[in-house]
Amino acid sequence: MKVHLLIVLLLVSNITLSSGVLDVFAAAVSVVYKFFQRDDLLPFDFKRLEKDLKDSLFGQHIVSDVVLKAVTSFMNDSNPNKPLVLSFHGTTGVGKNHVAKIIARNVYKKGIQSKHIHTYISEHHFPHRTKLDLYSAQLKQWIHGNVSSFPRSMFIFDEMDKMQPQLIDVIKPFLDYNARVDGVSFHNAIFIFLSNAGGNVIAEVALDFWREGKDREELWMNSKELETKILQNIFNNKNSGFLHSSIIDHHLVDHYIPFLPLELKHVRQCVMAEMLHLNMTQDYDLADRVARNLPFFPEEEKIFAVKGCKSVRQKLVLYVD
Ligand SMILES: Nc1ncnc2c1ncn2[C@@H]1O[C@H](COP(=O)(O)OP(=O)(O)OP(=O)(O)O)[C@@H](O)[C@H]1O
Ligand SMILES: [Mg+2]
Repeated sequence: MKVHLLIVLLLVSNITLSSGVLDVFAAAVSVVYKFFQRDDLLPFDFKRLEKDLKDSLFGQHIVSDVVLKAVTSFMNDSNPNKPLVLSFHGTTGVGKNHVAKIIARNVYKKGIQSKHIHTYISEHHFPHRTKLDLYSAQLKQWIHGNVSSFPRSMFIFDEMDKMQPQLIDVIKPFLDYNARVDGVSFHNAIFIFLSNAGGNVIAEVALDFWREGKDREELWMNSKELETKILQNIFNNKNSGFLHSSIIDHHLVDHYIPFLPLELKHVRQCVMAEMLHLNMTQDYDLADRVARNLPFFPEEEKIFAVKGCKSVRQKLVLYVD
């Protein structure tokens, strides 16, 4: 009897022991997994982001200021009440993707290459209007799945203005205050929307400022109601995916950030930066020549670069023997 009892006891303890071992093993795997995931995150450093923006972003004082403050306060907040949602607006080549990359390399060790950054380009990922229901389901699942496995995920939506309103509405629940969807919290995620929508309004305001003889650096988010104008423009534009969008209506975007059109001196700075990138000796006169040969608008005054700093590298190599 005693022997049987001993055997039963041994068996039971063995089972609990082995399941205990399994539990410990699973916990260890989860700790190691979390460690490696977290390992992709950089400790946030305000000074590093400030320096990065100062050194590599030209002519965008509003963007530098708002991005630095918004990203810093979000990254330093241990308990944010909503995800960070930034909407970048401006004409072509003024640095919208560039700034998304700068933020990425200040959050993740692998920068824009991090597997926790998910970029969607509307016309590439969601090209067919007939498949909107499928895209909606996929998008919902992608966002939910990625944030549940890694809360500090970043989502970049490029060409946001070309996105179908139905898809924009899919994102909405994830952006909301105190958002929890199926038990997953989205408060630590970062959403960045990029679009040309509002770009013309921004360019008009910048041009007015220039014509009034005012210093570009005096232009701020609230000058000439810039942020409100962008908002109204994209909300009421029939060609914009943002048209009457619930995201705007419910004030889920933290900041609509205006990217100003770039002037000659900024394009010159871009050429100089490209020289460094191409391991060339920096040559101011050459940079000036390359920049001056790009198209500028308006027709008469030629103040702003039509394509911003886009294709600067491609033009530069034409000048090199
Ligand atoms: N303000 C800027 N400061 C420094 N470099 C810039 C700036 N704007 C653009 N560039 C350079 O030009 C390249 C193209 O810019 P970017 O892709 O960020 O433009 P964009 O605003 O996203 O334009 P689009 O609306 O056409 O997508 C960048 O990779 C960067 O090298
Ligand atoms: Mg872009």
